[in-house]
Amino acid sequence: MRIAVVGSGYVGLVAGACLADLGHDVILVDNDNRKLAALRNGETPIHEKFLPELLQRHRGHRLQFSDNLHEAVRASSAIFVAVGTPPTESGDADLSYVESVAREISGAINDYKVVVEKSTVPVYTSEWVRRIILRNGADPDSFDVASNPEFLREGTAVTDFLFPDRIVIGCDTERSAKVLGEIYEPLTGGAYYQRADAIPAPDRASVPPPIIVTSSKSAELIKHASNAFLAMKISFINAVASVCESVGANVNQVCRGIGTDTRIGPRFLNPGIGYGGSCFPKDVMAFRAVARESGYDFRLLDEVMRINEEQRQRFLRKVRSALWTLRGKHLGVLGLAFKGGTDDIRESPALFLVQALLQEGCKVTAYDPAAMERTQEVMNSNLKYANSPYEAAHGADALLILTEWEEFANLDLERLTSELRYPIVIDGRNLYDPDVMAAHGITYYSVGRAASHPDGIPAGALKNGVMKNGLPKA
Ligand code: UGA
Repeated sequence: MRIAVVGSGYVGLVAGACLADLGHDVILVDNDNRKLAALRNGETPIHEKFLPELLQRHRGHRLQFSDNLHEAVRASSAIFVAVGTPPTESGDADLSYVESVAREISGAINDYKVVVEKSTVPVYTSEWVRRIILRNGADPDSFDVASNPEFLREGTAVTDFLFPDRIVIGCDTERSAKVLGEIYEPLTGGAYYQRADAIPAPDRASVPPPIIVTSSKSAELIKHASNAFLAMKISFINAVASVCESVGANVNQVCRGIGTDTRIGPRFLNPGIGYGGSCFPKDVMAFRAVARESGYDFRLLDEVMRINEEQRQRFLRKVRSALWTLRGKHLGVLGLAFKGGTDDIRESPALFLVQALLQEGCKVTAYDPAAMERTQEVMNSNLKYANSPYEAAHGADALLILTEWEEFANLDLERLTSELRYPIVIDGRNLYDPDVMAAHGITYYSVGRAASHPDGIPAGALKNGVMKNGLPKA
């Protein structure tokens, strides 16, 4: 099938490359000519596993790049709209890019088209897109609008697209459902997974994926509700971690205990310094705004956001209580990206903390395997960068772990302690076992677990001769 994908951001670029890999002819449209030139020249603008291979495989053949939306629409049966929907001041999604694309599509319709929302949009957007296309003169029978939400995560976007848990298509007509069904047939029929050149399956892949056909409104809600639920799961476990810290329980043990209940599940139950990125913060806010406008006061979502914000402040307090005063302290920082496996720093809790620590007068040296270049573009020059985790730790009063990169979970602890001025690690991602750290002579603070100290006394457990819980020292 001939498909146009409008917008070459995260979702558009990955969707375009993957749809080409399914055998479709894809035109990726963007109005940023520098980006298009870079893509044509073989560059991959985002750090994403398997994306360079797919772009290399299809560039110039199944995957073309263009700034001409009109022509791309005329040449295609389905038009995927994957433009940005940034938040406005009040938290609603700004849909002006979606609207202007809808207007342009209208004037280019020459035969039946399915216009597919791929960006995360509030409920009713498909109705608005339809109205805008009609208002601009298109024949009502010449098109349908469908919603096909994307559930890909940064860092694993290609495999999330090709090996999804499910494919949701929100179609209000049979003919649009048929077109979208055909587009995904190589996945839902399983043929893609038989191919020798298919992208390798990730762990836990269950193929072929089911296709869930809903109304367009339900599909729009599924996307917002999924992200809000996942954010809620993270805030929930972060709140439980705080309780664990107060009572001396271990949040990892609690996670294991509750996550093995199949009704709850173990994933997205990792406590830390709160969720970030370009999706959860924006989508929870947008869903809150959608609910308010529709007359439902979804206060649970306010609490999800409040806990997330509080989680960063708690971590800052932890740094303060580990180091006493902060001004002039030298801190090594591991991680700047909003999560491991990506160079994306949008709404990164790590970056928020680095900024707060710099403001408090700390000297910070940071290392991130992928996000340093992007950080340099937005951060003031006080932040220093290192070429390795050990260089970041060199001479530091403490080391902070702020992003869950796999390489940070496998550090040479002997080497680390020899680099640090004081062997103190404050881990916002729970990458280490506190006992192992103590055995290596490291005073270790993490989230939702008692701090551990090389001499065996839990760090911070004693306050003026009494345990923190108020009981006299035994
Ligand atoms: C998220 C969703 O997971 C995707 O399904 C969705 O398609 C995407 O948003 C989107 O709407 O485009 P993403 O933002 O790439 O994907 O990242 P996640 O892996 O979900 O992580 C989000 C944040 O939550 C990160 O800061 C991460 O560190 C944090 N997190 C995640 C935790 O603190 N604990 C966890 O257990 C999981």
